[in-house]
Amino acid sequence: MMKALIVGNGAREHIIAEKLAESSELYAYMGRKNPAIAKLSKDFKVGSLTDFESIKKFSDGMDFVFVGPEEPLVNGIAEHVKNVVGPTEAATMLEGDKGFCRDFLRENVGFGYPQYEVCSTYEEAERAMEEIEDFVLKPAGLTGGKGVKVLGRQLKSIEEAKDYAKTLLKSGNAVVEERLEGEEFTLQAFCDGKNLIPMPLVQDHKYAYESDEGPMTGGMGSYSAEDHLLPFLEKKDADEALRIMKKTIAAIDYKGILYGGFMSTSDGVKLLEYNVRFGDPEAINVLSLLKDDLSEVCLRILDGNLGSVEFEKRATVCKYLVPEGYPDNPEKGVELSIKEPEKAKLYYASVYEINGKIYTTGSRALALLGKGGTIEEAEKIAEAGVSEVKTNNLWHREDIGKKNLIEKRIEHMQSLRSPKL
Ligand code: GLY
Repeated sequence: MMKALIVGNGAREHIIAEKLAESSELYAYMGRKNPAIAKLSKDFKVGSLTDFESIKKFSDGMDFVFVGPEEPLVNGIAEHVKNVVGPTEAATMLEGDKGFCRDFLRENVGFGYPQYEVCSTYEEAERAMEEIEDFVLKPAGLTGGKGVKVLGRQLKSIEEAKDYAKTLLKSGNAVVEERLEGEEFTLQAFCDGKNLIPMPLVQDHKYAYESDEGPMTGGMGSYSAEDHLLPFLEKKDADEALRIMKKTIAAIDYKGILYGGFMSTSDGVKLLEYNVRFGDPEAINVLSLLKDDLSEVCLRILDGNLGSVEFEKRATVCKYLVPEGYPDNPEKGVELSIKEPEKAKLYYASVYEINGKIYTTGSRALALLGKGGTIEEAEKIAEAGVSEVKTNNLWHREDIGKKNLIEKRIEHMQSLRSPKL
């Protein structure tokens, strides 16, 4: 039997662990004890996910190491620990340095990115903001997706934008880029250094409240369709996103999972960002459909011989249960009494266990996945699962995967595609 180590402790890592444990003897290295991952593992250790000496010792004798979150990857775990199914530190700059990523696309892909400037001084940033006018400001470095601010949304005036640019420049470069209008989608792929195999497309929901209102979050839930496309996209949008990713890995030695966050616009598909790991929750959608054995796929990635990978032709809907006050002022340390749902699958996210009792941390707590022949069917299963496990202290976005919201996305794209009179 293969021996595999999972690094990480969220719902994304829970489903990765579940898939790996189907054929491997599983070990886990976690920042905090996730009781569900611990249960799937023969042994586990709790420690810092960037303590590479400790991970190296714990992973001795493992056939491979799968890293869930970006932080260990961007800090170079693939250079310190053997058999990591992930990119080298140099290749992680696609996520770790947004300026590098934009310049890389300009030089190696030649399309699929917005107008942008990478700025190292305030004068450059001021000039770029004047030139681009309708812009988004983001830090070049890693911020867990929390640093992106849009003029007219989080930045109420140009003065606020200038102040934010000054703040960003204190800790590194800032990227000023054209604000895009359209619908976001995620394309994830397995990469073996030469070959890339796409997974079903997924749409995540980053805003906290129904109808995409409120503050940004890590993602409140996501869905995928039975044809592996998305109802608001045209096939050529999916093809274009894939072309961007294929041209990317043709120009950089990349092994592991590549996550492309895209926007479909009236001017074609644009890459918003790359991540060098699975998305959370998007991993839950695609891995629940994976027909191949994930441990075998990992070995094939390490060998540079990915071959083919297949996914079930079914739809998925994933909904996160989050604590009261999430994301700005969340309740923490609330004890949960969790019951397994009948048809939906339950994944443990940011919770911890002490003396057999499970508590929330303040971040996304539990993910419920429904799988069905259509998005509608999958949504009903996910929602039934939510009712079975929900307590008064947790809430969720009911509209994710529902017909109304999907119709709005379709209409939005239709209005952008129709020629302006
Ligand atoms: N769902 C967004 C992310 O994983 O970055």
